[in-house]
Amino acid sequence: MKRHRWSACCLALFCAVGIGVSGQTPSENKLVIHADREVARIAPEIYGHFAEHLGRCIYDGFFVGEDSSIPNLDGVREDVIQALLKIKIPVLRWPGGCFADEYHWREGIGPKDQRPPMLNTHWGMVTEDNSFGTHEFLNLCELLGAEAYVAGNVGSGTVEEMQDWVEYMTFAGDSEMGLLRKANGREKPWRVKYFGVGNENWGCGGNMTAAYYADLYKRFQTYVRSYSGNRIVKVACGPGGDDADWMETVMKEAGSRMDAVSMHYYVMTGSWGRKGHATEFDEGDWFELMKRTRGVHDLIEKYSAIMDRYDRRKRVGLYVDEWGTWWDPAEGSQSGFLVQQNTLRDAVSAGIFLNAFNQHSDRVRMANIAQTINVLQAMIMTEGEKMIVTPTYHVFDLYQIHQGARKLDTELTSALYKMGDAELPALDVSVSKGAEGQIYLTICNLDPQNDQTLSCEFKNFEPKEVSGRVLTASAMNAHNTFDQPESVTPKPLTGGQINGSIVTLQAPSKSVMAITIR
Ligand code: AHR
Repeated sequence: MKRHRWSACCLALFCAVGIGVSGQTPSENKLVIHADREVARIAPEIYGHFAEHLGRCIYDGFFVGEDSSIPNLDGVREDVIQALLKIKIPVLRWPGGCFADEYHWREGIGPKDQRPPMLNTHWGMVTEDNSFGTHEFLNLCELLGAEAYVAGNVGSGTVEEMQDWVEYMTFAGDSEMGLLRKANGREKPWRVKYFGVGNENWGCGGNMTAAYYADLYKRFQTYVRSYSGNRIVKVACGPGGDDADWMETVMKEAGSRMDAVSMHYYVMTGSWGRKGHATEFDEGDWFELMKRTRGVHDLIEKYSAIMDRYDRRKRVGLYVDEWGTWWDPAEGSQSGFLVQQNTLRDAVSAGIFLNAFNQHSDRVRMANIAQTINVLQAMIMTEGEKMIVTPTYHVFDLYQIHQGARKLDTELTSALYKMGDAELPALDVSVSKGAEGQIYLTICNLDPQNDQTLSCEFKNFEPKEVSGRVLTASAMNAHNTFDQPESVTPKPLTGGQINGSIVTLQAPSKSVMAITIR
């Protein structure tokens, strides 16, 4: 087995800066942690979420209505609120996705029996009754203690409609919009920190060229104002997948007028037409997903390099505001509802993604997994009164330690996980320092067959105590169901050893771990 060293500063898979080291024993996995070299703050928003009017994410997922027999607070499920509070959800993006560019916010305010229904043309052609609208969303963010990230309609909306929405939500005074909000029962404006000017405008958001969108962006954003002390962060629509031309044009033409630009990155093992099965797969598929997930480093680095040309000081954030696995829909599920099961494979993929966002936290300042409940790589699944959390939820639980911590400089030498002629580092890590000097370490073992022993060498830090949790299972496709909700849950770390400045950890095959070292 060959070994390679990966520098955390340049962790992209094919960007190994290191030296190949020969040798066979797993203990040669080595991580050097420079505890005195803090590189960047890890924005809590990297652990953000996304809730679209799609399938059963909003209705049945978050919102069951005030009259439901399911315990709720103003119509929002209490069990969901508790589960999301536990993982400290920092930001929630809404109402889409593709839905955002056909959403007309005025239809979702005022007395519910007077809200007109609309057709959700992107997602199953179902009727949307608009019972969950601006008030319900922003009140939910307040309940969760999460920042609101509202996506505005560029594709089928007007500049005036967007301007009015921002004023309605955030202006304290007695303008037409301020008075309308007050008449609808909300005296004080809400805090709306993030506002997206369109979504996927190269596709479902209007099929625009980059140059056309850049012009529209400049026009629309002019009227997205900061009112009454609410400093709004304006987010431009960036590329989906690999589209450097889009990023180049939008940054060149409009970079100086935005606070952030988005990118979307979904992973699967097949193609968009046949994405792959969520639960029935072999090790080749497992490897393929790990490989494509690690591809996010390449894309972030490619986009960061473009951004650097127009924004050398890194003022503009790169928001990966949709990411995650996307599988063929579950058998028997409703068309357009994007229902999929969530296995240990999804969890390891999520761990790799989050490590990557941490590693690029100088530019990546927000990321929103798609989507929170019952859709795509969900955190939570609901069925009537029942609610379960997925393996991916547990990854967010484990990784919450990094929120707001300082990323540390590290060097990783990892064993290789090989599949035919292809190879990946078996271990994928991220390291940060908390407010009280404790060190946080998250580790994914991508190899589904072999456990790994990792030796962590601390520079300028004396390890005294090690604790942590480990998420794994015996099968690659292990998952939670309503009958067996705890098949995949984290267990306490065993076997962490301290010897001077070295901490030795055991990473089971196909696992995600979160470790705290004091
Ligand atoms: O998350 C599902 C969809 O994926 C979103 O609506 C869209 O933005 C993306 O294509």
